[in-house]
Amino acid sequence: MSHPTIESILQENRLFHPPADFVAKARINSLEAYNALYERAKADPAAFWGELAQQELEWFQPWDQVLDWQPPNAKWFVNGKINITYNCLDRHLKTWRKNKAALIWEGEPGDSRTLTYAQLHREVCQFANVLKQLGVKKGDRVGIYMPMIPEAAIAMLACARLGAPHSVVFGGFSAEALRDRLIDAQAKLVVTADGGWRKDAIVPLKDQVDKALAHQAVPSVENVLVVQRTQQPVTMVPGRDHWWHDLQKGASADCPAEPMDSEDLLFILYTSGSTGKPKGVVHTTAGYNLYTHITTQWVFDLQDTDVYWCTADVGWITGHSYIVYGPLSNGATTLMYEGAPRASNPGCFWDVIEKYGVTIFYTAPTAIRAFIKMGEHLPRARNLSSLRLLGTVGEPINPEAWMWYYRVIGGERCPIVDTWWQTETGGHMITSLPGAIPMKPGSATKPLPGILADVVDLEGNPVGLNEGGYLVIRHPWPGMMRTVYGDPDRFRRTYWEHIPPRDGQYFYFAGDGARKDEDGYFWVMGRVDDVINVSGHRLGTMEIESALVSHPAVAEAAVVGKPDEIKGEEIVAFVILEGSATPSDALQQELKQHVVNEIGALARPAEIRFTDALPKTRSGKIMRRLLRSLAAGQEVSGDTSTLEDRSVLDKLRQGA
Ligand code: PRX
Repeated sequence: MSHPTIESILQENRLFHPPADFVAKARINSLEAYNALYERAKADPAAFWGELAQQELEWFQPWDQVLDWQPPNAKWFVNGKINITYNCLDRHLKTWRKNKAALIWEGEPGDSRTLTYAQLHREVCQFANVLKQLGVKKGDRVGIYMPMIPEAAIAMLACARLGAPHSVVFGGFSAEALRDRLIDAQAKLVVTADGGWRKDAIVPLKDQVDKALAHQAVPSVENVLVVQRTQQPVTMVPGRDHWWHDLQKGASADCPAEPMDSEDLLFILYTSGSTGKPKGVVHTTAGYNLYTHITTQWVFDLQDTDVYWCTADVGWITGHSYIVYGPLSNGATTLMYEGAPRASNPGCFWDVIEKYGVTIFYTAPTAIRAFIKMGEHLPRARNLSSLRLLGTVGEPINPEAWMWYYRVIGGERCPIVDTWWQTETGGHMITSLPGAIPMKPGSATKPLPGILADVVDLEGNPVGLNEGGYLVIRHPWPGMMRTVYGDPDRFRRTYWEHIPPRDGQYFYFAGDGARKDEDGYFWVMGRVDDVINVSGHRLGTMEIESALVSHPAVAEAAVVGKPDEIKGEEIVAFVILEGSATPSDALQQELKQHVVNEIGALARPAEIRFTDALPKTRSGKIMRRLLRSLAAGQEVSGDTSTLEDRSVLDKLRQGA
């Protein structure tokens, strides 16, 4: 991992106060109220979280101890018994929410479906029985590789109801990436669909599953359940593959929620790190339930009349926490949309907002930059007056994109919550509370109550005001990841040892650079490790390098990010060919496609540059900092004294 000097060039001083009529109805409605909550949580975290857990969730059995912290292992709500689907479904059936819309779904071709809490509960119970029938038991892992259709959420909830941890793999990942994740999780069953709609084309999900499972590559998988979505022909392997609708039809709707231990595994979600192998981030039941529940309530200022829409895919943590679990636990109406803005319908998001009267809209800075490019006339042509709150997630937002979002989409009446968090944190960590914290465009503002965030140097000393440093969290929180699936050592190394603990103080190392300003606002500057953020998606440079090196023509590869107006960063690969291979445009194309086949379209390099050497230190480490400057077309600055062979740099410059 590299530790570049962290410098911030952003100077943004505009301050926006939450609009008065928003404040008037807000749950947390002043800076004082936020400060009081923050101080209370800080003074006695166990009492704070214990009280919320009691107040906000229903338990089958109370816990003995709020937190058992044996760094880096945290147990929350020790010996409590709970089921997240009871909190997301059953408890609402006892209230007027029984017939409230739980899930509103809009398909890309324009089909739609609404499920009330009672209907969603029924579908989940039936599908849980289907899983049982196929031998899935508490503790068995289930792979989910789905388009954005209600069945994706139903499958997740059905797993959680039985206590079978799910591992959702984003539908844009390739068969190879899917296979690696199914193997790592030792999945017993896979839920998929014939295909899904993506920008007017069909993504052939079932074909990819067939490829992933070919030649018994994942022996643990016994059954595959297939939702019929696009109706294109697929091969059904007798004995292994089953149509969802065939089995769902006859299944009983009686399936009580399994009492789970607070710390039982709820799901595994793979994410990229600075080494080649994706990490299986483990989240457990009670802490995750509480944390996603309370952050949804606080940060989105959730009210019973809201129609809440998060545009993420359920394949990412944002979809897990803020399409499915957080909103449903609160009894909210959550909207799920299969489509994406596309040439044939660039204004589709605004149509969805108008059609359903969406009140809360949560999306990514990369999407906002794309909207800006598509033009103001598209949102202007729709009635967006139902919106009352906007949110962003995934990467730092450029202040100008923030201003556009505030002005054009929010009509200057909607606060924006810029939410900093990670797959590992389970839920929001640093973000404004929309009725309480004045906003500064580009800053995620302040940590939530209970989150002791700080910016420190590598020894753990707080850095000065407006000085760059490493973003850390000083105390465990209920939504935190518990381990890396099957690799506790990697968990400790990656998150708890970069900054050595001292005096019993452990630092959760987020992998982001940040600074804190004179008002205590955090400005996140991006990753400090070898992770690239392309359109808000995390990709490890090592993963892409391994994919390139697996091609017979490639001897060595180094991958870096290069700034991009829409995507934030795009991928540039420096490639050394095997002796017999010759550089050509055709080979560049072939290598790009090879990465797509190995990882998925989201990892396609924008550029491949052939070279015959890479800049390395005397100990053989690739100096990515230099490659980053070259890729961005900048002069290579800073210290190059550790470079082993200085002529490499000149050659690379000439080749550029
Ligand atoms: O670098 C930060 C960036 O996204 C990383 C986490 O990525 P992932 O686990 O895929 O989760 C994305 C959705 C939570 C962080 O380490 N990031 C996320 N949100 C923000 C952000 N950077 C700045 N501001 C944000 N609001």
